[in-house]
Amino acid sequence: MYDLLIRNGKVVDGTGNPWFYGDVAVQGEKIVAVGRLDDKRAKRTIDAEGLVVAPGFIDSHSHSDEALLINPKAESKVFQGVTTEVIGQCGTSAAPRVEAAESNWDLPRWHSLGDYLDLLEKQGVAVNVIPLFGHGNVRRLVMGMANRPATAEELRAMCQLADAAMREGAFGFSSGLIYPPSSYADTHELVAVAKVVAAHGGIYATHMRDEGDNLLAAVSEAITIGEQAGIPVHISHHKTCGEANWGKVKDTLALIDAKREAGVDITLDQYPYIATSTGLKVIVPQWAHADGVEAMRQRVSDPQIGAQIRAEIAAQGYRWDWILVASCRKEENKQFEGKSVEEIAAMTGQAPIEAALELLLAEDFDVGMVRFAMCEEDVELVMRHPLVMIGSDASALATSGPLAQGKPHPRAYGTFPRVLGHYGRERGVLTLEAAVHKMSGLTAARFRLWDRGVLRPGSYADITIFDEERVRDTATFVEPHRHAVGIHYVIVNGQMVIDQGVQTEHLPGKALRRRP
Ligand code: ZN
Ligand code: CU
Repeated sequence: MYDLLIRNGKVVDGTGNPWFYGDVAVQGEKIVAVGRLDDKRAKRTIDAEGLVVAPGFIDSHSHSDEALLINPKAESKVFQGVTTEVIGQCGTSAAPRVEAAESNWDLPRWHSLGDYLDLLEKQGVAVNVIPLFGHGNVRRLVMGMANRPATAEELRAMCQLADAAMREGAFGFSSGLIYPPSSYADTHELVAVAKVVAAHGGIYATHMRDEGDNLLAAVSEAITIGEQAGIPVHISHHKTCGEANWGKVKDTLALIDAKREAGVDITLDQYPYIATSTGLKVIVPQWAHADGVEAMRQRVSDPQIGAQIRAEIAAQGYRWDWILVASCRKEENKQFEGKSVEEIAAMTGQAPIEAALELLLAEDFDVGMVRFAMCEEDVELVMRHPLVMIGSDASALATSGPLAQGKPHPRAYGTFPRVLGHYGRERGVLTLEAAVHKMSGLTAARFRLWDRGVLRPGSYADITIFDEERVRDTATFVEPHRHAVGIHYVIVNGQMVIDQGVQTEHLPGKALRRRP
């Protein structure tokens, strides 16, 4: 007598192998049988006739670190079939941090990565979590927002923090080389931290220094770090931004293929959209971020330094009609959410750069943005590459409560169904097996999780059951807070999280810790 028997599904097992019709049996937290189980019985049986039975999707690039403490149900993710998230990306993780770190949310205090993972487990969480630690976190703990190279002593202190985070279960670390203070690091500093992480068998995920004019140099730096530190490299949200740079991903992928051929271990992830999303403050030159928000405010407001900042922003040649304000904190600025900087400039009677800077000043530089910057040809080219897995680059959101604010990038709700529906079924970019593999088995293998990401006896029962003809994203840039459709069941560690299309109250996720 099994706990759960999923009958007659079209089984896509996550390895990339061809689908087959079969049954999947679950006992406790684990899958115990896959095949023809006609003579078996279970406490609960799901008839999956006409549906695909796949491993639960693994979000290879998630920013849910804080969101999971605010709302443990991870709603926008589980409605996509996600059962595991790789958090701590782009150089910023929940931990380590100073215990009394400022937050926009009223959350319990923590310091180390171990504290954070314990907190998450104590509270309960709907999805499993694979933690990375942020290079920006360790640099900030040692050097604050100082814009200079680390001294030998500071570097030693960062390496000690890195070692501690790895011992507490991190699967690796991430850099955010457009985000101060991570961006203030030189290659030498990143290699030093990477060596510590490599010694524990961890991985280096990087939001590179440049995803536009200097894309190739940025990929080269990532490769150099891999070579010098002997660490597996994972390039985050691979893309090329700005019309003049479209097509460059052909060159980066060729370079990566050649380097892999030569023995460097590199993989990548991608989200399936032509728009990016980050903080609007990235338009302010990085040197102007030094020493924190108050120092930045003074620089922007200073006649001379402010003029220099404006000149550098102008030199970037931004398309202000392609940059949307996604979120503001202050009530009086909510009217700007979903509007382009060009529209906001027209509303306030200012030049676009002035409108953007005034909003940043009013919001203490905490303004979310969406920027249209890529082209479809590049998105599809990157998606087809066998080294590329799928990651949302988003934090878990919800259609009500504190995570339902603003006009965030629709990738938070749509990434995985969009790959299956729009790019897989409609555009024919990926086969069903390849799409599922890039969302499960490939990612599990990359993070050396041998008991997740595939439907096999002995694996944890993380399972997503969906309708391959109907699965699709419904979130748009205008109406982003909309759940995907076509996902019927989501099972995490053997427990129902989505049951017949409705989320349950169960929080069966685990804070995973790297094992040697
Ligand atoms: Zn990033
Ligand atoms: Cu990211």
